[in-house]
Amino acid sequence: MISRTTIDTVFETTRLEEVIGDFVQLKKAGSNLKALSPFTDERTPSFMVSPAKQIWKDFSSGKGGNVISFLMQHEHFTYPEAIKYLAKKYGIEVEETEQTNEQKLQADERESLYLVSDFAKRYFHNTLLKVEEGKAIGLTYFKERGFTKETIEKFMLGYSPNQWDAFTNTAIKEGYKLEFLEKTGLSIVKEEKQFDRFKNRVIFPILSMSGRTLGFGGRVLTNGKKAAKYLNSPESDIYHKSKVLYGIYHAKQEIAKENNCYLVEGYTDVIQFHQTGIKNVVSSSGTALTHEQIRLVNRLTKNITVLFDGDAAGLKASLRGIDLILEQGMNVKICTFPEGEDPDSFAKNNSFEKLTNFLKENTKDFINFKASILASETKNDPIKKAETIRDMVVSIAKIPDVIKREVYVKECSRIMDISEEVLFNTLAQILQKERRYLSERAKKSTHSFDVISSEKQPVQKVDIQFKLEKKLIELLLLYGVNEENFEEVTIETNENGEIIFKSEIVKAKVFEKIYLDLQEDEIEFTNENLKELYHDLITCFNQEQEFQLDHFINRLEPEKAETVTHLLMDDEKYHLDNWESKDIYVKDKDYSIAQIVTETILNLRRYLVSQKINELSEEINELDTQQKENSLKDIVDYLTLKKILSEKLNRVL
Ligand code: CTP
Ligand code: MN
Repeated sequence: MISRTTIDTVFETTRLEEVIGDFVQLKKAGSNLKALSPFTDERTPSFMVSPAKQIWKDFSSGKGGNVISFLMQHEHFTYPEAIKYLAKKYGIEVEETEQTNEQKLQADERESLYLVSDFAKRYFHNTLLKVEEGKAIGLTYFKERGFTKETIEKFMLGYSPNQWDAFTNTAIKEGYKLEFLEKTGLSIVKEEKQFDRFKNRVIFPILSMSGRTLGFGGRVLTNGKKAAKYLNSPESDIYHKSKVLYGIYHAKQEIAKENNCYLVEGYTDVIQFHQTGIKNVVSSSGTALTHEQIRLVNRLTKNITVLFDGDAAGLKASLRGIDLILEQGMNVKICTFPEGEDPDSFAKNNSFEKLTNFLKENTKDFINFKASILASETKNDPIKKAETIRDMVVSIAKIPDVIKREVYVKECSRIMDISEEVLFNTLAQILQKERRYLSERAKKSTHSFDVISSEKQPVQKVDIQFKLEKKLIELLLLYGVNEENFEEVTIETNENGEIIFKSEIVKAKVFEKIYLDLQEDEIEFTNENLKELYHDLITCFNQEQEFQLDHFINRLEPEKAETVTHLLMDDEKYHLDNWESKDIYVKDKDYSIAQIVTETILNLRRYLVSQKINELSEEINELDTQQKENSLKDIVDYLTLKKILSEKLNRVL
């Protein structure tokens, strides 16, 4: 774990505009900075950075947040990665805490594995470009495959010489330990001798999402030899085959921008696509797709297009991958290449336009795809047809989203010419079976929450209450520590039973006023996000003599930072007329902060009281006489309270 002091130093030193400035060209626009969105292709700048508030907002994609959210969304860093990146940029030493000695050793060891791998990458690349043997054999091979110099450099392709230990010897001479060479699998140690694993192969380095060298793929130079065509790094502390996707580092930006990821089978497919101009592409490197790999993509987009080679062999096995993608709530499309072609050969022989057109015209939704590959088999065979339909429904059942499921059932019904009713019944059966299975597993499992997933997620209600809660947070953020004069109104009844208002001016800080008023009525925020923010803010105000908005925002977790950004930068603000129609009192000219605060609190209270009245009135018919009477009394009380609140509001406005 990174120590709190390091994190604090990082946040105190960091300037959002400097960090973002490394990625986009910022121009001054009033007190803000503007740029073209780095998340979409736009012509007029809609990306805004506020140096004063230390927040950014991209109006074209709706994203926004603080410095950490920017690095997480733009560079796809994890939280610790973002902190480390900032520390490096500002020359702050990262202090780790709570690491046992063993953990430290392990971290050191992993670091050593990374270093050796990085050295190997540079060695192989250098050998390919600078050494006679590499140029004559490796470079010639890549040129024959049609790779340009830029492509070779971008992917840091390399060559490992045709000698038993050329690489291992150089590495040891450079001071790298044999232990780490062996652990990364770069060298194979047998008794007294050591050998290069990738001897006489061209090299494809495999990089992590953030660009670190994890492992390698090495291809033989001639087809048809006895040796395996591709040899990959063995599993190690830094290389887990099931968790990497070849090309993810070079594709991540474009995957997010295009909001789609092409999934291919091989190294060369990825590279050839890039060279032709399609960069949102990754490869599972010949293995069956795993959950972890899909999750990597899921961080960037919800859409995957799987590209299959022209040979039908292995196609059916790959269908399982599709269900795995559906299960994670992602959308899957499929495109197959013509007989005898793979994405590599097709991209090599066609222009960018031809390739994009081909993809556009041949990409099918998974349902249509399943129908089409199984169609040839099922023609005139009712049993096969029934199997196909069942197979489709099994896939549909994997989709967590109920609406999407229904859409696909309808589509399936149309394509396969079978009634929706039957399909829905089958679907229900499958789901029920699955649920039973899951609940049984959940009972056995200690991590039951892992298993019972995705059933129903509460729909977020964007209603008046939400808006009022938002408004309160906004007021706290902007004016929390301002001292204002609040008009405190008290109510008395005179001898004629009429209500009279007495008012006095009380000096208080905005946050105190809000906090005390809400507490008095035991009002809790309903929106979880806002509720947490509210508590964070109140704690912060109570503890710090000086509240600084930019510091507060810098420290926020990315999700909360995003919420805050939307509050502070969204233009939708308050459309007064709409509010009136919703029976909410609004100000129509400039009021003091104190008035706005009071108004918002009163509106919230009044709204909650109305809700209460509605609730009570709805239930009342189901009650017996005694209960009814009590309820009616409550309603009358609430109505009086509502009237008082309305009066108070009238006085404020
Ligand atoms: N693969 C592997 N080991 C093998 C064969 C294949 O790891 N013995 C992986 C590689 O990642 C390869 C992918 O599976 O890129 C796809 O295999 P294939 O289609 O046979 O290779 P291509 O990428 O088409 O390779 P090439 O065009 O160089 O023949
Ligand atoms: Mn190929």
